Amino acid sequence: MKRGYQESSSSSSYGPPQSKFKYNPEGDGQFLEDENTKIFARKVADHYSARTNQTLEEREASPIIHLKKLNNWIKSVLIQLYAKNGDAVLDLACGKGGDLIKWDKARIGYYVGIDIAEGSIEDCRTRYNGDADHHQRRKKFSFPARLLCGDCFEVNTNSGNSFAKFQVRLDKVLAEDAPFDVCSCQFAMHYSWSTEVRARRALANVSALLRPGGIFIGTMPDANVIIKKLREAEGLQFGNSVYWIRFDEEFDDKKFKSSSPFGIKYKFHLEDAVDCPEWIVPFHIFKALAEEYGLELVFVKNSHVFVDEYMKKPEFVELMRRLGALGDGKDDNSTLSPDEWEVAYLYSAFVLRKRGKPDQAPVSSRDKGKMNLSKEDIVFINDQP
Ligand SMILES: C[S@@+](CC[C@H](N)C(=O)[O-])C[C@H]1O[C@@H](n2cnc3c(N)ncnc32)[C@H](O)[C@@H]1O
Repeated sequence: MKRGYQESSSSSSYGPPQSKFKYNPEGDGQFLEDENTKIFARKVADHYSARTNQTLEEREASPIIHLKKLNNWIKSVLIQLYAKNGDAVLDLACGKGGDLIKWDKARIGYYVGIDIAEGSIEDCRTRYNGDADHHQRRKKFSFPARLLCGDCFEVNTNSGNSFAKFQVRLDKVLAEDAPFDVCSCQFAMHYSWSTEVRARRALANVSALLRPGGIFIGTMPDANVIIKKLREAEGLQFGNSVYWIRFDEEFDDKKFKSSSPFGIKYKFHLEDAVDCPEWIVPFHIFKALAEEYGLELVFVKNSHVFVDEYMKKPEFVELMRRLGALGDGKDDNSTLSPDEWEVAYLYSAFVLRKRGKPDQAPVSSRDKGKMNLSKEDIVFINDQP
């Protein structure tokens, strides 16, 4: 495949002190950029907040039901591969808590979820309590949890300006809950890529909150696939019956410089799921930046490759059968449509590991989590003094 970006000749060229991506968080230019960024972050939050919980019937009638099941399978495989009994888990951009059951199956010991969308965190709370799972209600979850509402890519805002004084960095808010064994950011890391400071903050938070040897798992759009499709398209838009992606006129030459890899915005529409601005994440830059924060790449795989590889393992074939994403192939509607399969190709799954040796001593038990969460238990991090 033709790469969307030129690979950097050496990843160490991004490491401090030679990092190419220097910034000035306190500078005036940055201040203006942050105001725009906040507007977009709000747009994303409002979009997800407005999405209501679906009934089982509505969910099964979705034009992308098999894609949703496939994505659940990919997330389940990642969780089964990397979460262990008793682990403390940080779920960045946890949404409505769609992964709670997966974490429960992995028998984790503690769960902290955070999302910017208030409506989603409230749905996550009721799902955790077992009050409102339309899909399959079940016994209570076996791990204590804590939920936060806020922007997990928010930058340090102790700059004294009036817009920023209520915002608090996530690594500070969660300092007492850390270190986590696993951090997960599913289908959301690209929302941090609107500016360099936010992308850095996202990775700095993950790094600060993970223990040495801790694992960061995630899924996000595959920039190479998106840029390849953009270049193959007649204009600035492409898609199929279930999705479209549109770039602004400013990108009409379809060229993207390695020296400005942040803020490459496009509009993404996915039937019955997404309709908001997103940002390209050139993976080699992501990898290089992650290394600066002590996070080393274990693997990145496009979803198609991921499916091919893990469908060779009987336990994951059985999981796929149970989730029903690929169906039995006996009738067309029992399996992923070609258009859904094309959407799967737009994403990749990644695993990073925080450098360093794990501490010998187990982390002392967390007393912040609860087994039942009231509305008042949700911490709104942007309201912290
Ligand atoms: C596609 S959904 C994925 C939700 C969940 N991780 C999952 O896999 O089911 C993307 C989520 O990212 C959240 N999100 C976007 N920007 C965010 C930010 N800056 N801070 C926290 N959450 C954010 C949205 O509110 C939404 O719930």
